[in-house]
Amino acid sequence: MAEENKQRYIKHYGLTGWDENILIKMAPLMEGHKDDFIDAFYQHTLQYKSGSKYLKDELVIQRHKRALKVWFVKLFDVFDDDYLRYLEGIGYAHVKVGLPSHYVNSSISFVRSYCTNLINNEVSDCSERGDMLAALGKMLDINLDILTASYIREELNRFFISKKTEGKLISFAKRFSYGLNLLLVFGLVFLGVIVLALFTVDVIEIFKGDLEKGVLATLGALLMLWVVIELVDTEVEHLQGAKRFAIKIFVGVALVAVIRKLLITSLKSDAIEAQWFLIVALGVLGLVYWLMSQLERSKN
Ligand code: HEM
Repeated sequence: MAEENKQRYIKHYGLTGWDENILIKMAPLMEGHKDDFIDAFYQHTLQYKSGSKYLKDELVIQRHKRALKVWFVKLFDVFDDDYLRYLEGIGYAHVKVGLPSHYVNSSISFVRSYCTNLINNEVSDCSERGDMLAALGKMLDINLDILTASYIREELNRFFISKKTEGKLISFAKRFSYGLNLLLVFGLVFLGVIVLALFTVDVIEIFKGDLEKGVLATLGALLMLWVVIELVDTEVEHLQGAKRFAIKIFVGVALVAVIRKLLITSLKSDAIEAQWFLIVALGVLGLVYWLMSQLERSKN
């Protein structure tokens, strides 16, 4: 498996025997600068805002510096199965400490420019310089690929059953929820039609001569119509992607229903007890509605 992987990297990045020889030829130059490299690398890591979260104490820093020096020297050596496993181990170590992959990408970019500057300053032969830069580029690309593959593997492993099954389940759940929302819109539109009918019946009551009852009931029906409009609007907004949760509207629905009931019972003189109950309910719902409005306003 490791052999197969190694061949895949060699083929995909075009790393030839020629490149490997060039890298080995560069080794003494790079080894001579390994201490300076570590200093420059650590200078570069200072810009990472939470770098100290990972390189948290002197012990870890010294251990990392030693490990990094070994990595730098191995960069200019043969690419074999052991080296592949070694890089996978580094990737795993970074994932284990939770190091952001962005830091690894940025560090490799730094190593590229550090080595490029060194080659440009130290190698006078133009064609040799070109060969060195090409081989170095391929080797760093392979390193980056392997070091970041551990992050992708970790991401892929974060599944309970399997990526495919869970993907299908999530997409089904999303469609189902969208279907239910559509059903809710139909239901609300149907409710709107019924409230309109109620409004018509209440208006007819006025013309039948029962003016007081008719006017109060019509007022109640109009309030209900207003609430249904709010509900339809909120649901349509939700379907169009707004995240707003309509809990306040539902409190509004209850509020309006109580007001309507109160208006109707106020016509009956024998319903005093029921009216007190409705007044208390109205007070509580009104308070909840007001608190929610305050909360909404402070969030905005
Ligand atoms: C080119 C980029 C990097 C290379 C080649 C590299 C190399 C290594 C190596 C060889 C190890 C030891 C792995 C092992 O124990 O098996 C290691 C571990 C670690 N690296 Fe890096 N590293 C890089 C970038 C970074 C950066 C930018 C940070 C933090 C800002 C970092 C933080 C760590 C930490 C915290 C550990 C574990 C140290 C321990 O507890 O021993 N590395 N790295």
